[in-house]
Amino acid sequence: MTQEDIRSRVFEKKEDLIKIYHEFHQIPELGFEEKKTTDLICKILSEMGIVPLRLDPTGVAAYIGPEDGYTIGLRADIDGLPVTEETGISYCSIHAGKMHACGHDGHIAGLLGAAVLLKEMEEELTVRVKMIFQPSEENTKGARHLISRGIIEDVDEIFGLHLFSDIETGHISVEAGPRMAQTDRFCIRFSGKGGHAAKPHQCVDATVMAAEFVMSIQTIVAREIDPVEGAVVTIGSLHSGTQYNVISDRAVLEGTCRSYSEGTASRIQSALRRRAQGMADSYGGMAEIAYEQGSHPPVVNDVPMAERIREQAEIFLPERDFGHIAPLMLGEDFSWYQRKIPGVFAFVGCGKPGQASYPNHHPKFRIDEEALTDTVFLHLSAVFSAMRKYG
Ligand code: NI
Repeated sequence: MTQEDIRSRVFEKKEDLIKIYHEFHQIPELGFEEKKTTDLICKILSEMGIVPLRLDPTGVAAYIGPEDGYTIGLRADIDGLPVTEETGISYCSIHAGKMHACGHDGHIAGLLGAAVLLKEMEEELTVRVKMIFQPSEENTKGARHLISRGIIEDVDEIFGLHLFSDIETGHISVEAGPRMAQTDRFCIRFSGKGGHAAKPHQCVDATVMAAEFVMSIQTIVAREIDPVEGAVVTIGSLHSGTQYNVISDRAVLEGTCRSYSEGTASRIQSALRRRAQGMADSYGGMAEIAYEQGSHPPVVNDVPMAERIREQAEIFLPERDFGHIAPLMLGEDFSWYQRKIPGVFAFVGCGKPGQASYPNHHPKFRIDEEALTDTVFLHLSAVFSAMRKYG
C-alpha cells in the first residue's frame, strides 16, 4: 500500500472509528476493573483476525506482523475516572459515577483504528508490532504492573499518545526531551507545645511554624533550582489547631512537587527537609517529613525516535501543525516504559477550534472527533518510521 492509499483508507474508515469511540465512551471503568472494556477490545481485535492476549486482571496485548525481529510497542491506556458525566451527549456513560473524562476511550479507538490498517498490510510489515492496551493509568499503577509481568521484554521501542482538549484540534506535538513531569507527594508535621492564646511565651506555636514554612518554601524554585528547568512546589492542604483561643501544638501540611528531571526532584526534596528542620529548630519545635518520590518519573522522549516519527507524521498529515507545544506539569505513567526502552509520547489537540472546551478530567470534557484520525496516523507513523530504520 502506498502512503497515499493508507491515507485514504484511514479517512474511509473514519465513521467506524467514531462509532467504536462512542461504544467505549459508554462503558467507562476504573483502574484494574476494565472487564467490559477488555472484552470489547478482544471482540473487535478478533473480528479483524488478530489474536488478542487477555492480560491479568484487565488489559489486552496483541501482535501484528513478523513472528519475531525488531518490535515496536504501541500503547493505549484504557481506564476511566470516578466522575459523573455532564456532557448531555447521546452516547454518554451508562456507568453511574464513572466517565471517560480523560479521552482514554479515544486512545483505545485510535489504536484499534491503526490495528485495522496494520492487519490489512501485514504482509508488508518488516517490524513486529505489539499493541498494548494498558489498564489503570489514572492511579499510576498500570504500567508498573504490566512491566513487572514482562510486557515489554520483547519490545525494542514504544510509542504512546494523549488527547488534550486545551490544545486545539490540528496541533500535534511529537517532540524530543522532557514532556511531562515527575510528580512527588509529601506530608510535613510540625509539633510544638500548646497552651492559652494569651500566653504565647509558654508555648511553641505550630501554626506560626507552618505559616512561616509555607512562605519560606516559595523561594525553593526561585533560588535553588536551575532557572532553565521548570518545577512547582505546592502546598495543597494545611491543618492546624482546633479552637480560636488555644495555641496549636500540631500542624500538618500536604503538598506536591512537579519537575522534569529526577535530579531536580531530589534537590527539592532535600530543600524541603532542610527548611522544615530549620523552621522547627528556630522555634524550638519538631518537624517530621514524609516524602513519596515519583508515582511516576518524568516523560522524556527519545531524541532520534521523536524526530523520525514526527517526520513521518508530517508526511501523513501535511495539513496539521507540528509546532512546539510547551511541556506539561501533569504526570503520565508511560514514563515507566521509557525507563526501560526508548519511547516517545505525543500530545494530540482535540479542542474544537473556536469553541470553549472543558479540560481533561472535567465532567463536561469532550473531544473533537476530528482528532481521532490524527491518533491513527500517529501510531502508523511510529510503525513506518521504525520500519525505515530497522525493517
Ligand atoms: Ni489521561
